[in-house]
Amino acid sequence: MKFLSIEESNATHLEALIFLAAEMKSTRTSHTNLPLAGQTWAIIFTKASTRTRVSFEVGIRELGGNVMFLSKNDIQLGRGEPIKDTARVLGRMVHGAVIRTYAQQDVADFYHYSGIPTINALTDEEHPCQILADLLTIREKLGSWEAKKIAFIGDGDNNMSRSWMWAAKHLGFELSIAAPQSCLPPQEFMDRLAAPNVSLSTDPAEAARDAHVINTDVWLSMGQEGQAEKEALFASYQVNQDLLSHCAEGHIVLHCLPAYREKEITEDVLERHADTIFQQAENRLHAQKAVLATLVK
Ligand code: CP
Ligand code: NVA
Repeated sequence: MKFLSIEESNATHLEALIFLAAEMKSTRTSHTNLPLAGQTWAIIFTKASTRTRVSFEVGIRELGGNVMFLSKNDIQLGRGEPIKDTARVLGRMVHGAVIRTYAQQDVADFYHYSGIPTINALTDEEHPCQILADLLTIREKLGSWEAKKIAFIGDGDNNMSRSWMWAAKHLGFELSIAAPQSCLPPQEFMDRLAAPNVSLSTDPAEAARDAHVINTDVWLSMGQEGQAEKEALFASYQVNQDLLSHCAEGHIVLHCLPAYREKEITEDVLERHADTIFQQAENRLHAQKAVLATLVK
């Protein structure tokens, strides 16, 4: 009844969700199964969002449900009401919740105290819904992630890179992360991950070598705005044509968006791979519908 992280998922679960997402996508205009009929879901966001908010609002409605969007300033959460009280109130009124916030613990607490299906729509720790969309895109573009090398260039210690590492652990593909030394995940995380197929490097060319998928994300995640010193570390970690020259033939480029052109990715690379990147964005809708349908089954 929850989808809070890739960490607590597994290969069977991820594969089933991707399979269902592909089916939801191919039957979007004709599906008659409305598993959220009669339900009202709350979308509670304490951070900005374009893709996640819109794809959840549309997805919940397409599955027959009603939806209410609550920014932190719309509700008493923004004035300091604890998450556990918010959860105990909403749990008595709505049928499910989609939460975007800072601490992973807040999403876990919401689920615990509300007792209703709860989805992590991004925390500082993980972005599990994005990973589902990314995997679906890889399957559509490359057939499968099996025997593929996936590279993640940028902040190796943020929500996207961490979710990617857990996906690699569960699904077994080779994942190579390149980041400045201070933006690589700490040893404690790597010990917990215990995935020999995940490698860390400070050399973006090494990570990109023979990669089938190049993945990047903003250098400064939400909540880190204005950290000029951190941003300055990434100057040689840009996804540009030079970096892509190390990749395997037929490689694809993924970006969860929003993109900051001429920072983590050049305008030229983004526009040449826009077909894949915006397909990836669209796949948020289909992947999340699969999560929603599975949670209420
Ligand atoms: N990729 C993603 O989660 O985008 P938003 O922040 O716009 O939701
Ligand atoms: N790492 C980024 C992802 C945005 C979708 C952030 O947290 O801002």
